[in-house]
Amino acid sequence: MNLDGAHEKDSERDEGDLDKRIRLETVTKRWDDPPAVDGISFDVSPGQFVILLGPSGCGKSTTLRMIAGLEQASSGNILIGDRDVTWLPPGDRGISMVFQSYALFPHLSVADNIVFGLRSRKVPKPERRERLNLVANLVDLEAYLDRKPAQLSGGQRQRVALARAIISEHPICLMDEPLSNLDARLRGEMRREIKALQERLGMTVIYVTHDQVEAMSMGDRVILMQAGRIVQDGTPDELYERPASAFAASFIGSPAMNLVRLVAAEEGAVIEGEPRVPVAESAAGGGLLGIRPEEIEVHAGASGVSAEVLDEEYLGADTILRLAVGNQVLRARLPGRPEVTRGSPCRLSWPLDKAHLFDADGERRDDLSLLAFTASETPHGSDAGSRAASKAGNPPGNPRVATSDPGVSP
Ligand SMILES: Nc1ncnc2c1ncn2[C@@H]1O[C@H](COP(=O)(O)OP(=O)(O)OP(=O)(O)O)[C@@H](O)[C@H]1O
Ligand SMILES: [Mg+2]
Repeated sequence: MNLDGAHEKDSERDEGDLDKRIRLETVTKRWDDPPAVDGISFDVSPGQFVILLGPSGCGKSTTLRMIAGLEQASSGNILIGDRDVTWLPPGDRGISMVFQSYALFPHLSVADNIVFGLRSRKVPKPERRERLNLVANLVDLEAYLDRKPAQLSGGQRQRVALARAIISEHPICLMDEPLSNLDARLRGEMRREIKALQERLGMTVIYVTHDQVEAMSMGDRVILMQAGRIVQDGTPDELYERPASAFAASFIGSPAMNLVRLVAAEEGAVIEGEPRVPVAESAAGGGLLGIRPEEIEVHAGASGVSAEVLDEEYLGADTILRLAVGNQVLRARLPGRPEVTRGSPCRLSWPLDKAHLFDADGERRDDLSLLAFTASETPHGSDAGSRAASKAGNPPGNPRVATSDPGVSP
């Protein structure tokens, strides 16, 4: 790896690329039942920034530690480049790791912390000094090299940990929730810094987080885990636009995707407690309808699902409305500060291509059809025959309804 800049990245890719590929083949880690990591496989391309995302205890750190060699896999194979490293000790795997806790030596200066690994590898002093200067400049720590870790802010300590990983010039860097101890502003800054650094150095990064904002903003690819298994592996866009399950749908996005229960009725599946307006074909009954808060339109039109405004939360750029539909509550995100009358009735609609259907087990069902709202819709009946049907994954025309509303106006 070269620390001198972006143009070096390409030339270096040709020869060094092979070392940067990481493959897991049905890797399991079992302490008890169920296993902490349960037969997962993935293949990380050279230079990719991959996020391991999931709730606490789903096996993210264990997966990372197995790749690093800090934990032995119970079964399966781990390959780095063309080498099977499953049984190799950590030092022979050619990777560096940034821990959540920073793991800095308190009695050593910033400079000595950064070059610690080089010193134990017996890298000559002049070369150590040269690499230290380069890296300190890269992470903006030149002014702090003589301090002890205790004299640094959290963000500066984080950068020392990062510098220590970068100076090793390993082509692969594993990071376990490296930003979790920072405040929101610093976290945003560090997100950009890490991403820029990774691109500049052409590193392959596997980055563990339970923060979906980090996942969406930093990852080329997101691997979402639940209970030791991979539930979805795709680009941030794919996870947002086509969640594979109700769990994936609820994990990405803030506020989370609305998931409302559907029941089968005569003219189609309806939202539980709101029997008048079928929203999907009958077979979708018993499952869930998913709509992101930002896709819901709130209006006073003749079509759509009847709702009532419960309350609002003003966030500055936008406002989150809580709406009662049948016996369930939905959230809608509206731009700005709409004038809201609590308790006022309104209608909700959404573009069909932005609604998702999941079955009773939470699995995505693209084979089921959503139903479009029509202007002939009345609160007392419906004309299912005139409805346009659409498969969940197959967008129809434009079903958006936008009319003015006495109860809610932007
Ligand atoms: N050394 C261990 N011995 C026994 N069980 C362990 C050990 N380390 C982890 N586990 C268990 O394995 C599961 C996965 O743990 P892991 O640390 O990988 O989760 P995680 O996804 O990183 O969670 P978090 O977001 O809280 O860090 C958990 O149920 C945990 O209790
Ligand atoms: Mg962890």
